[in-house]
Amino acid sequence: MPFTVEKKHILHSSIFNQTLRDWHSLKCDITPKNLMYPVFIVEDDDAVQPISSLPGVSRFGINKLKEHLDNVVRNGLQSVLLFGVIDSLPKDEFASNADSSKNPVIRALPLLRKWYPNLTIACDVCLCPYTSHGHCGVLNSDGSINNAASIDRISDVALSYAKAGAHIVAPSDMMDGRIGAIKEKLIKNDFGNKVAVLSYTAKFASNFYGPFRDAAKSAPTFGDRKCYQLPTCSAGLPVRAAHRDVQEGADMLMVKPVMAYMDVLKTVKDAYPNHPMFVYQVSGEYAMIYWAAQKGVFDLRVALTEILSSLRRAGADVIITYYTPLILEWLQLKHKL
Ligand code: PBG
Ligand code: ZN
Repeated sequence: MPFTVEKKHILHSSIFNQTLRDWHSLKCDITPKNLMYPVFIVEDDDAVQPISSLPGVSRFGINKLKEHLDNVVRNGLQSVLLFGVIDSLPKDEFASNADSSKNPVIRALPLLRKWYPNLTIACDVCLCPYTSHGHCGVLNSDGSINNAASIDRISDVALSYAKAGAHIVAPSDMMDGRIGAIKEKLIKNDFGNKVAVLSYTAKFASNFYGPFRDAAKSAPTFGDRKCYQLPTCSAGLPVRAAHRDVQEGADMLMVKPVMAYMDVLKTVKDAYPNHPMFVYQVSGEYAMIYWAAQKGVFDLRVALTEILSSLRRAGADVIITYYTPLILEWLQLKHKL
């Protein structure tokens, strides 16, 4: 007797045309609302600096950023994540230039708000691009993190970005208590209902940040970030971190990087289904996909579609990716994504 498949075990009847397949895949749709674009801004207003470790990505001075973003906004860009990069401004122990009047993000915010009234603007909040030692907090004399001093300084920087026009502040430093400290200062200064906090909740000490540290000139001058970023194999800390950040008032949560951490994405989303879940496809992931496509391993559009859809399936609401301009272009061309 040949084996016959039971009626309820037939899956092919569910997927024999594209509409049927789509009904099983609605959670995976990619629209402009599901994308956030990270942007590096430099001091020199007329500069365009291609980043060799991130092929296709440049740092922009504010004037050149307008030329670049005009087109991306026209293609449907909804939100950006700003990173300041300094070169000639001095770096010191307290990251004074993280929010001085010369900081490129502080200077760009009012202009971006004016140029793009419908664009939602998030700012990465961290000290590492501005500290002399390249660490994400304020240090004690023995090189360890001074948590209290760090969150006091980080919350000041977040407030400065809020005052300059940020809709969202996104602390990436991983200090304990920084969400609460930021919320408190925002509320005290009447930004309680005007500025959201996106927490880099589960940010791992990862090998995939290499090109970014080059791009943001933020590599630590000694040691590593393992005492504040999460250990790769920790299965329990991400949910504890999310619990901490939600208790302190985080509006949105993030997991970063993502391809090596998709289980974490799902675990955190399942634990906090009522908070929009962001994932950051980081610089090393961008470069890896770029070079694989260049070498003919796969077609970039087809592979990227598979990767981004799978992030949505795993629970990502918003994907932060350097590929955003390209994806928006594809969406304009009505390519299925
Ligand atoms: C800084 C920061 C990093 C990234 C975002 N904010 C790097 C780091 O922690 O060293 C990584 C982004 C990327 O790799 O694309 N705190
Ligand atoms: Zn940092």
